Amino acid sequence: MKHLLSAGDLDRDEALLVLDTAEKLRELADRPIKKLPTLRGRTVVNLFFEDSTRTRISFEAAAKRLSADVINFSAKGSSVEKGESLKDTALTLEAMGADAVVVRHWASGAPHRLASSGWIRSSVVNAGDGTHEHPTQALLDAFTMRRHLGALDGRRVAIVGDVLHSRVARSNVLLLATLGADVTLVAPPTLLPVGVESWACATSYDLDSLLPKTDVVMMLRVQRERMPHPPGSDPGPRSPAFFPNAREYSRRYGLDAARMAALPEHALVMHPGPMNRGMEISADVADSSRSVIVEQVTNGVAVRMAVLYLLLAGGVPATDETVPEQRRREQA
Ligand code: NCD
Repeated sequence: MKHLLSAGDLDRDEALLVLDTAEKLRELADRPIKKLPTLRGRTVVNLFFEDSTRTRISFEAAAKRLSADVINFSAKGSSVEKGESLKDTALTLEAMGADAVVVRHWASGAPHRLASSGWIRSSVVNAGDGTHEHPTQALLDAFTMRRHLGALDGRRVAIVGDVLHSRVARSNVLLLATLGADVTLVAPPTLLPVGVESWACATSYDLDSLLPKTDVVMMLRVQRERMPHPPGSDPGPRSPAFFPNAREYSRRYGLDAARMAALPEHALVMHPGPMNRGMEISADVADSSRSVIVEQVTNGVAVRMAVLYLLLAGGVPATDETVPEQRRREQA
């Protein structure tokens, strides 16, 4: 594997290899010393054209824990604001000797362009492109589910909310289908993308009827910034095309304590963050013992370590030696 652009690029074996590798690397997160020498001398560039908190920090932590050099490039305050093109930015990165470029871009397809352009030799990792894909988020979600539920074959996952604007939903549907899970997208008709019938999942408008038979409920953020309304204004009354108002949205599609009580005992509550507390998820649900939202963040680092490791360390599966080496260094 040279690039990770789409969750659909991974066949079942490749997806499981990433998850198993992450499992080995996850151990590190619980240790006082969290570093491995694996990518020493390699350079990872985080190229972020769109705001991000957890994804950028997560990739940075992942690269650093593998001892890579990390360059953070954010479009704000860079020459991109002066109109520098993706191509010129890429040529600059190439000149700096980047081994991997982790790219988040507001334009769907930008990472693909970068990978197929011939402008750079490095591996490209899609860290979220427009409303298209976010493959490492899907991997960390699957990783988190697997830790709690075991193999995902036949597991029922409901992905709820603003599917239309969600790259997380698309990548999750692709990956979860590969891993054998049954996915249902739950959203108002206005927030389902055109062509969703061809996705490898079911759709529903009725959250309440699904909850009792769901193993995982993944809530999506209502992406106000991608809905045409005046900046800073409430998306409710001014977004008649999507839903009547915030209260009505929550009433139909929000996860609150009453709805959570309808879930089976073992079911997980997930959210990729950032959350609109009180909108798609109530604060008590977000902070409840069913919620694995904080754990998703921790697991994200291990999954991104696995991805960088597999892309840059020659695709050799991580052996148990990866971790004992760390132990030897700690003891030395
Ligand atoms: C998601 C994203 O940026 O696509 N967040 C994330 O990566 N943790 C989802 C979102 O913004 O709602």
